[in-house]
Amino acid sequence: MQERETWSSKLGFILACIGAAIGLGNIWMFPWRLGAYGGAAFLIPYLFFVLVLGTTGLMEEFSFGRSKKKGAIGAFEDVYKDKGLNFGDKLGIIPVLGVTGVFIFYSIVVGWILKYFTLTLTNSFESIESIPAYFGTFVGTPNTILWHLIGILLTVIIVSFGIKEGIEKVNKVMMPILFGILVILLFRSLTLPGAKAGIKFLLLPDWSKLSDPITWIMALGQSFFTVSLGGAAMLVYGSYLKEDVDIPSSAFNTVLFNTISSFLAAFVIIPATFAFGLDPQAGPPLLFITVPTIFKSMPGGYFFGALFFLSVVFAALSSAINLIEVPVEALIERFSLSRKKSVFIVGFLAFLIGLPLDLNMNIFGLFADTVTVYLIPIGAVLAAITFFWVYGVDNARNEINKGAEKPLGIWWEPFAKYIFTGVAIIVLVLGIIYGG
Ligand code: PFF
Ligand code: NA
Repeated sequence: MQERETWSSKLGFILACIGAAIGLGNIWMFPWRLGAYGGAAFLIPYLFFVLVLGTTGLMEEFSFGRSKKKGAIGAFEDVYKDKGLNFGDKLGIIPVLGVTGVFIFYSIVVGWILKYFTLTLTNSFESIESIPAYFGTFVGTPNTILWHLIGILLTVIIVSFGIKEGIEKVNKVMMPILFGILVILLFRSLTLPGAKAGIKFLLLPDWSKLSDPITWIMALGQSFFTVSLGGAAMLVYGSYLKEDVDIPSSAFNTVLFNTISSFLAAFVIIPATFAFGLDPQAGPPLLFITVPTIFKSMPGGYFFGALFFLSVVFAALSSAINLIEVPVEALIERFSLSRKKSVFIVGFLAFLIGLPLDLNMNIFGLFADTVTVYLIPIGAVLAAITFFWVYGVDNARNEINKGAEKPLGIWWEPFAKYIFTGVAIIVLVLGIIYGG
């Protein structure tokens, strides 16, 4: 068997993790939630949760993967085997299925975004009125299938080149450009006449929202989802780490840049929405109706619009690459398949399973909700229990501290074992009750 690949540098690893973390959660969900759940007031629970719990969850997944040099199935199997238990691999299938499920619907959205990138680049919308109508003739229809296929093919081709030559290289290009574009668009958006109302919507603190439990629930769910805590995606990236890489600092940097990108997305999208008298919304209509309308209304808008959709392509594609790596690694490790074979099998199957979702938005919504409300949080809980409880929180701390400039002290052990695992269970239960 071939030796396991590793990242070529700490920077390459961090950029790949930032790429994995930044995605639709930052662009679809965060801007709207920030405004809807109290503006600056929402930032208090959100920043607290993402800094404390997000960082802990990332350290857990990175070091779990690195300690076993395997993805979730193999890593879970090893931990339980050491205790004489033989069901670890079966348990590890759950987070792998969850993340694969995210890939299935995510790759469809990558296709939509690619289409809208070409539409804005070629200035194809004839009028503002044609934009909502176009959305209805595209999303949920056979017209998406070709773009879905292109999205999958792009992902498959990149991942077929492996960790260093594929995943790491493209993230090193995409991430700096992504941030550069968002900063350019930030100036464009904030200098629009009427942008102030959007800034107010985003930042004016509505302190009363802090007494509403739903604000805390949304902040908590967001903080887990946005840094990809599902027990497999960040774990598999960790499995390609060298022993000397500083895990606490890598986890913190991932959280930091993921958060910065959420802010940038919010301050690009929402002030421009207000400047043109539109309604800020959550989900697909925001990106595929509101945003194209904004750019159509703005002088030179097709240039900024194309830039915007290019940045969203990079955000979503860098996450899709991470998502597909999870089942790809599982096939390589379980069945000794080559990377190329494995990635083509996964890409092909994901495309087939995705076809009904292409054609029917109700099925799409049901599938996406089931995966993100149930499977992903269950995966996060299973990983926390397996690593902090079964493998042992003292072993976990040793693994995290390998290569760490500022090692975690003993105080951290009860925090990870009781608080973090407990909160992961709370995220799961509240998510089910409130439907995400
Ligand atoms: N973090 C990604 C986003 O914000 O879009 C979504 C995600 C990826 C969640 C992978 C969970 C996961 F395992
Ligand atoms: Na994110």
